Amino acid sequence: MKTFPLNHVVESQQFDRDLLELVFQMADQMKADLFGERKYAKYLEGKIMASLFYESSTRTRFSFESAILRLGGSVITTENAREFSSAAKGESLTDSTKIMAGYADIIVMRHNEAGSASRAAEVSSVPVINAGDGAGQHPTQALLDVYTIIDAFPDVNNIKIAMVGDLRYGRTVRSLSYLLTKYENVEIIFVSPHVCKMEADIKTYLEKNGTPWREEQDLALVAQEVDCIYMTRIQKERFHSIKDYHAAASKYILTPDIVQTMKPNAIIMHPLPRVDEIPKEVDDDPRARYFEQAKNGLYIRMALLYLLLQ
Ligand code: CP
Repeated sequence: MKTFPLNHVVESQQFDRDLLELVFQMADQMKADLFGERKYAKYLEGKIMASLFYESSTRTRFSFESAILRLGGSVITTENAREFSSAAKGESLTDSTKIMAGYADIIVMRHNEAGSASRAAEVSSVPVINAGDGAGQHPTQALLDVYTIIDAFPDVNNIKIAMVGDLRYGRTVRSLSYLLTKYENVEIIFVSPHVCKMEADIKTYLEKNGTPWREEQDLALVAQEVDCIYMTRIQKERFHSIKDYHAAASKYILTPDIVQTMKPNAIIMHPLPRVDEIPKEVDDDPRARYFEQAKNGLYIRMALLYLLLQ
């Protein structure tokens, strides 16, 4: 096993192809081990993970907590760090991080401000994993997203992917865009309401790294040409204007009629949670991969904890 060169995981740009392959190989091993001999069951015995979530979460939080427990480690946490940690008394994020680094071997942090994970990593003596920082990034989601894409398209190269919905405030699509530049001949089509288009920094990054992109409005047309549709929720909590939110809400819905026109081997992804953008009737379509995608989060996060703490 190669050594893992990262001290912290704060953004997707930290990963190159070699590192991606290392994480995915490790995730494969973790997945096989969970259904096999369980040789990793005590590997992180004695290690403590601090789960510091200032924003709500189901998948990221529980999969990280499950991951450390399945590797033999333990979790310290507070139900809602914004309310029940000393942040409520005005403690700065950097002070809280320095304190938590004295109590835990690794910190997994979700925060409402973009850049918060990077600020925490700068002062932490133990690894910090960004579990989502506002509208910034969600690198571990992007890792599990690419891991899911690879399952359907093993070399990733030559695929066309549509990212749909809240691209302006969506940290998952930002992190995924960065990672997709690591693969050849990937084309990205952005489909979003006018008020939540993909930001210019990502478009510039894609151009600089040779990943073609374009914007379209008609989801029904785009659905017919792509290999992957990555739907996202319109995130009401991130909008500064309720008028803008209403201009975006329920605009793009992947109806069963649209799904019927997709390529037979195409896949449908979503970081979840969803609101109305994928009706439940689509869940039984073999192209729907979002529940499997969420499950892949466990294997990816086990791999990351193992690699960062080994
Ligand atoms: N995909 C994702 O980050 O989900 P949670 O907000 O439930 O963690």
